[in-house]
Amino acid sequence: MTDEIARGLEGVTVAETRLSSIDGDEGELIIGGFPLAELAGNATFEETVFLLREDRLPDEGELASFRADLASRRGIEPETRETLRAAAQRELPAMDALRMGVAAANLGDDAGESGDPETDSLTAIAVLPTIVATYWRCRQGAEPVEPRTDLGHAANYLYMLEGEVPDDAAVRGLETYLNGVVDHGLNASTFTARCIVSTESDVFSAVTGAVGALKGPLHGGAPGPVLDMLLDIHESGDPAAAVHERLDAGERLMGFGHRVYSVRDPRAAVLSEAAESFYADAGNADFFESAREAERVGAEALAEHRPDLNLETNVEFYTAVLLHGIGIPRELFTATFGVARVGGWTSHCLEQLSDNKIVRPRARYVGDEGREWTAVGER
Ligand code: COA
Repeated sequence: MTDEIARGLEGVTVAETRLSSIDGDEGELIIGGFPLAELAGNATFEETVFLLREDRLPDEGELASFRADLASRRGIEPETRETLRAAAQRELPAMDALRMGVAAANLGDDAGESGDPETDSLTAIAVLPTIVATYWRCRQGAEPVEPRTDLGHAANYLYMLEGEVPDDAAVRGLETYLNGVVDHGLNASTFTARCIVSTESDVFSAVTGAVGALKGPLHGGAPGPVLDMLLDIHESGDPAAAVHERLDAGERLMGFGHRVYSVRDPRAAVLSEAAESFYADAGNADFFESAREAERVGAEALAEHRPDLNLETNVEFYTAVLLHGIGIPRELFTATFGVARVGGWTSHCLEQLSDNKIVRPRARYVGDEGREWTAVGER
C-alpha cells in the first residue's frame, strides 16, 4: 500500500463502470456504449435512463411501461410542497430548495416499499423535476402546477414550469440536454452518491448528498455566469473587444477550458448543434449567432493569451445558450443539471450496490503526538 497522497483523488481509479467513458485527449464521451452524438439527439430521457439501468435500449412495450412507471411517481407530498414554498418565500437558491425537496421525497412511501434501491432510484428521477418546478412556481408567486402523466419526462418538466404544454422543438432541445449531461464518469457528485450508498445507506440520502456536491461553483455552478457573459458580449455589439476586455481585466472566459478535456468538450458540440436547430426553429437566430461568434473570438483570444494551453468551449457554454433559448430561467440552470444527472447518480448507486465495498480511503496524519491533558482552568 502506497502512502503517496493523491490530492482530489486525481488519477485514482476506484471503480469499474459500464455507464460512461471519457477520453479527454480525443474529446470522446461514451454513454451506455453509445458515442454521445449518437445518443443525445435521438433518445428520449426515459430511453437513456432505461439504457443506463438495463444496459440496453427498451423495446416499444418496455418503453411504454417504463414511461408510465416513472410518470406515476411524479407527485410530491403536501409537506414537501410546503417546504419548497417556504424556501421560495425566503428566496433561497434553487439548489438549496432541491436539496430540501429531495431529502423529503420519500415522505409518502409505504413502510414496505421505502428503502428498495431500484424503486427509490426511479422515484428520485421522477420527482426531481416536480421539486424544481414547484419551488420555481412559488418563487414566481404562482401556484404549483400538478404533473401530468400523459406527458414525457422532459415535456412535463417544461409544462410544470410554464403551466403550458411546450412545443416539440423545446422538448427535443431539453431531451438532448438531459441526455448530454446524464453521466460523466466519477465526477464529484457521482462519487458522493456512490460513497453514501457504499455504507448501505439509502438512495434518497445519496441523491441529497449529490445535490449538495453539485451545488458548488467548481462543479455545477458555471452555466449561469456563462449566460451573463454571453448576454454582455451580445449587448456590447463588439464580441472581440468584450472578450479581450475580460481577459485584460484578469477574468476567465466562462465556458472555456476543462479539467479532463484537452480538446473541445464533446458535449459542447452536441449541445451547440441542438441549440442551433432550436434557435433556427424558433426564428430567433440572433443570440445563437452571437454566442457562436463569442466562441470563435474567445478561442482566438485564449490562444493568444495562453498559447501553452488549448482552451476550448466546455459543456457549460452551450448549456447556457440552449437552456436560455428553451426558456429555462438562469436561476434553475444548476437544478436542471441535477434533473438530468440524477439519472447517472442513481444508476451509479445501483452499480455500486451490485458489487459493494464501503468507500474508506486513508489520510496521512500530520498533527502533533503525545499531548498531555490540562484542566480547563489551567490552559
Ligand atoms: N479563461 C481564461 N484563462 C483560463 C481559463 C479560461 N476559461 N481556463 C483556464 N485558464 C487559465 C487559468 O487562468 C490558469 O492560469 P495560471 O496558470 O496563470 O493560473 C490556467 O489556465 C490553468 O487553469 P486551472 O484552473 O488551473 O486549470 P483547470 O484545468 O483546473 O481548469 C476550469 C479547468 C474549467 C476550472 C477552467 O478552465 C475555468 O475556470 N474555466 C472557466 C469556468 C468554466 O467554464 N467552468 C465550467 C467547467 S465545465
